[in-house]
Amino acid sequence: MSSTIRDPSTPNIEPASQDDIVAAAYVYQAAAEALSEQFRARNPWTNSAARAEDLQLAIRTLATLRASDDRSVIVARDQHEIIGLTAVQIQHPHAHIAFYFVHPTAQNRGVGRQLLDRIRDVIDQSGATVTTLASSRDPKAWQRYLRFGLYPGPPLLPFRAVNPSFPGTIPENRDLANRPITSNDLDTIAELDREVRGADRRERIGQWLAEGSVGSIVNERVSGAAIGYALVTMGPHHGQIGPVVSTSLEHFSYLLDLALYVAGTVPNPHKRPWRVDLSARNHLAIGTLLDAGFSAENLVNWFESDPIGKWDRYIFRDEDEL
Ligand SMILES: CC(C)(COP(=O)(O)OP(=O)(O)OC[C@H]1O[C@@H](n2cnc3c(N)ncnc32)[C@H](O)[C@@H]1OP(=O)(O)O)[C@@H](O)C(=O)NCCC(=O)NCCS
Repeated sequence: MSSTIRDPSTPNIEPASQDDIVAAAYVYQAAAEALSEQFRARNPWTNSAARAEDLQLAIRTLATLRASDDRSVIVARDQHEIIGLTAVQIQHPHAHIAFYFVHPTAQNRGVGRQLLDRIRDVIDQSGATVTTLASSRDPKAWQRYLRFGLYPGPPLLPFRAVNPSFPGTIPENRDLANRPITSNDLDTIAELDREVRGADRRERIGQWLAEGSVGSIVNERVSGAAIGYALVTMGPHHGQIGPVVSTSLEHFSYLLDLALYVAGTVPNPHKRPWRVDLSARNHLAIGTLLDAGFSAENLVNWFESDPIGKWDRYIFRDEDEL
């Protein structure tokens, strides 16, 4: 064997001999361990500051859900102590279940079943017809979801980037015109959401705009018809791209390029890391996001009772907060 150090960009690619197997296994382990270390840093419970931030986010989200409908957060109480919770966000005709948890000392005794029975009543009474959720890997959760009538679909992809590259110029398309979104666009946005997202979210979009989200609405030049919109938000902890909504697959890439451009125009865009959450059904977004420096943090199990939303031309915003 030669002792020359080979340029790693021009390795020989060849079948392994029996003698190579142990060294190959070491390479596997070194790379897998480094990857695990890299992702462990993103575990939201690694230190007390991160735990406190995660708890505050959960408190805010639960409070927001309850404020929109006081039946939407359900708890299980034993004597005076809360031992479980679940919550649902309803945007007609879509119900998205969130926060399905039973305290570890009370699990596997039927509390989770009772929580889901109650949330099913809330969903049925609301008139929502499609239920979805993002699940953990806990087989107890999967068991409950299957019995509820929810089945796994293509996963959610949480894409993250510490220092993404945003396009320096606004994308051009001779058939399309874009302009900044204002609160006057809420009717148009509700219409686009009904068509692509499968639900009207006028209130949430209005709230995000009031809180400082910025974005663009895109129209066909000739007909003037709105064909999509893109919002971005610089939050206290991260920047977020989404929702990005396109009525056609043909124009989705333009909308995403526009969203990335707008993200680069917020003050100090590289002050914080950025998130983009999408369905694995959105094949068009993945390459663009990889090129911009994003990578998928993990795969999140998505369960649904029926399809809702054209996820192949859509980037999430609020579903991933639940
Ligand atoms: C998921 C969770 C909320 C369910 O609550 P729970 O009170 O433990 O659930 P239940 O006791 O009502 O039901 C558990 C079911 O799992 C089954 N189960 C238990 N261990 C299992 C295993 N290893 N594999 C498959 N099924 C299992 C039980 O038999 C029971 O099903 P059954 O009632 O049809 O017999 C709770 O376990 C939990 O908090 N898990 C950790 C957090 C989590 O993953 N939450 C889901 C986030 S999406």
